[in-house]
Amino acid sequence: MTHPSTLSGPAPADAAPAILPPELTVVVPSFNERDNVPELARRLDSVLAGIAWEMIVVDDDSPDGTSAVVKDLAGRDPRIRCIRRVGRRGLAGACIEGMLASSAPVVAVMDADLQHDETILPVMLEHIRAGRELVVASRNIEGGSKTEGLSPVRQAVSELGRRLSAMILKAPLTDPMSGFFMMRRSLVEAVAPKLATSGFKILADIVASVPRRPDFVEVPFVFRERVHGESKLDAKVALDYLGFILNKLSGGLIPLRFIFFALVGSSGLVVHMAVLYGLLGLGMHFSWAQAAATVVAMTSNFVMNNAFTYRDAQLKGGRFWSGLVLFYAVCSIGAFGNVGVASWLHAGHASWWIAGLAGAIMGAVFNYAASSTLVWRR
Ligand code: GDD
Ligand code: MN
Repeated sequence: MTHPSTLSGPAPADAAPAILPPELTVVVPSFNERDNVPELARRLDSVLAGIAWEMIVVDDDSPDGTSAVVKDLAGRDPRIRCIRRVGRRGLAGACIEGMLASSAPVVAVMDADLQHDETILPVMLEHIRAGRELVVASRNIEGGSKTEGLSPVRQAVSELGRRLSAMILKAPLTDPMSGFFMMRRSLVEAVAPKLATSGFKILADIVASVPRRPDFVEVPFVFRERVHGESKLDAKVALDYLGFILNKLSGGLIPLRFIFFALVGSSGLVVHMAVLYGLLGLGMHFSWAQAAATVVAMTSNFVMNNAFTYRDAQLKGGRFWSGLVLFYAVCSIGAFGNVGVASWLHAGHASWWIAGLAGAIMGAVFNYAASSTLVWRR
């Protein structure tokens, strides 16, 4: 195969051997993976021998200096590149940026932490070469598995995610939360503007956003144990996934942010009941216990909304405290509205639960609207 080493004409005879334009870009999102990336690069070099590949590590300015380690590798190997993103976090967004930075016909995404079995990459590429649009490495089909002893909680969350995902996906994936897949770049280029950038939902989002069922195949793999570093999958990531599915189920009608706001509100109810129970147990008078539980729940809602729902407009320092006071005020007005609407409907002979629900929805929508415009102004 010949290759133009300059854009304007044939290479001079004495030019250094040119590298081939890649057929395959392996996008590797990373956060605090400095001890894993050099080993991954070594393994790709051996397993992808004979294939024109490149690796793009998309690092969210890891405090452990992963990007410096990758750039050092890149200085010695032109197949390796690093995108260092500053002031941003999010696995999905990192994957999207990496795929969009590629000009190869085929893109793959895999984790930096060596938990994904790189030896199946050539098999995945063969499927694409044979005409498939999408190849997903799955832990949930014959031959695949999770070696890591997943906690019962994480197993339950994962099962719930799988069932809910089925309602929004254009293809019946057995492992929609897999972070290990390969596709024609054209597939992701077409839907990129529609994709959400937070959390771990990248594959599910692509397969929910494509206009029709992609021609796909799944290949099994064994999810390895992590050796260096630690997992970043936490409750926030799980909540983010749930919000994403609810948003898609409502046809995008209910804004993602309102769903997060409502999810945080539901968590506040749990906090409220727990505090109330505890204080009553300590012998506190009911009215005082209820008042204290309300303040604790509002505070917890504020902290969670600040960290999660409005993380792009996060309040810090003095603005955190003035925001908290404003949030108390907003919630109090919302509570008045809630009780007002519910009482009015109840007086008009609506059944108790319709009146109660309408009041709660009215309160939540008001709190959301007021919080979005007054507390977390963007
Ligand atoms: N750039 C960037 N930004 N990378 C991130 C971020 C982020 O905010 N968060 C995590 N990563 C990188 C990690 O460095 C790692 O390379 C990869 O994304 C996966 O993160 P882990 O924290 O190792 O996830 P896990 O092993 O617990 O989760 C596994 O299961 C998930 C759900 O089934 C992975 O296979 C995920 O890909 C999968 O979605
Ligand atoms: Mn991992």
